[in-house]
Amino acid sequence: MRSLTDKRILLTGGTGTLGTAAALQFCRLGAELILPVRNPRKAEQLRRTLLAKFPGARLSFPALDLADEATVLSLADSLLAQGKPLDGIVHNAGVFTRSGRTAPGGTEIHMQVNCLSPLWLTVRLLPLLRMSDSPFVLTVTSLSAFWRRASVPGKSPTGLYAASKRALLERICDLAAGIPEIDFVYAHPGVCATGLFLADPGQSAYPPAFLRLALPLMKRIFPSPEKAARSILHAAVYAADGQLAEPRGLLHIWGKPALTPLDERL
Ligand SMILES: NC(=O)c1ccc[n+]([C@@H]2O[C@H](COP(=O)([O-])OP(=O)(O)OC[C@H]3O[C@@H](n4cnc5c(N)ncnc54)[C@H](OP(=O)(O)O)[C@@H]3O)[C@@H](O)[C@H]2O)c1
Repeated sequence: MRSLTDKRILLTGGTGTLGTAAALQFCRLGAELILPVRNPRKAEQLRRTLLAKFPGARLSFPALDLADEATVLSLADSLLAQGKPLDGIVHNAGVFTRSGRTAPGGTEIHMQVNCLSPLWLTVRLLPLLRMSDSPFVLTVTSLSAFWRRASVPGKSPTGLYAASKRALLERICDLAAGIPEIDFVYAHPGVCATGLFLADPGQSAYPPAFLRLALPLMKRIFPSPEKAARSILHAAVYAADGQLAEPRGLLHIWGKPALTPLDERL
């Protein structure tokens, strides 16, 4: 079991549905949170939400747009310049959007945001993780990363999303193999009606009319964000190197989280 009390943890996507639920849990356990964000208005909202429940929470909100390589490098450089140990990284930010979008550098957007940028951030921050006495890197993945066809990027939004999630898992596992001193752990939340399905305004993977019908239905059928986010906290606290926390119930969508070796699911 990993204590998170007074641990310095970087959590991406804290402004999102599952990220906010996870951030609240990390604060409850006494972690200091670095919450990189791309939208200052949402950062302020998140700060208020966290401080309302945990007035003493130690929080910072540096800028990060995972679509933009320059901000990834500048966040890493500013943390390296501070020179403080980093106890954990939680790669929670993610995008699911329409096909055909590219990041400013020209890479397909899912691959940039969901795979390449988290990978680069991890590699750049290794010196700070190595300064911690129990460092971990937690990758929030998706059931779609375990689909057989996920290894071959399709053209649909779902195919592109699954391929990017799969690619991050594979690359992070390659990295982990050479770094035994850091625990690489994994989590997926099952399925939950979150902001993921809305993407940036006008850029959602599904037509708005469909989402107006589907999202309320999804909210009724699938677990709440608080329940879905339990896998993230479970992995942070209980997972050993190479373990995945996922809902243990029907189709790995419902139920309390349980641990399984990631290898068995790949
Ligand atoms: N919901 C599900 O059913 C489900 C299932 C499996 C896995 N997941 C995974 O769970 C994680 C959390 O997703 P969620 O469901 O909570 O979705 P969400 O509410 O849309 O949250 C996504 C988060 O990622 C951030 N983000 C997106 N693009 C970014 C960028 N270019 N740079 C920096 N941050 C960016 C968003 O920032 P803004 O607030 O600024 O938009 C937001 O904080 C994701 O990795 C997702 O793939 C979700």
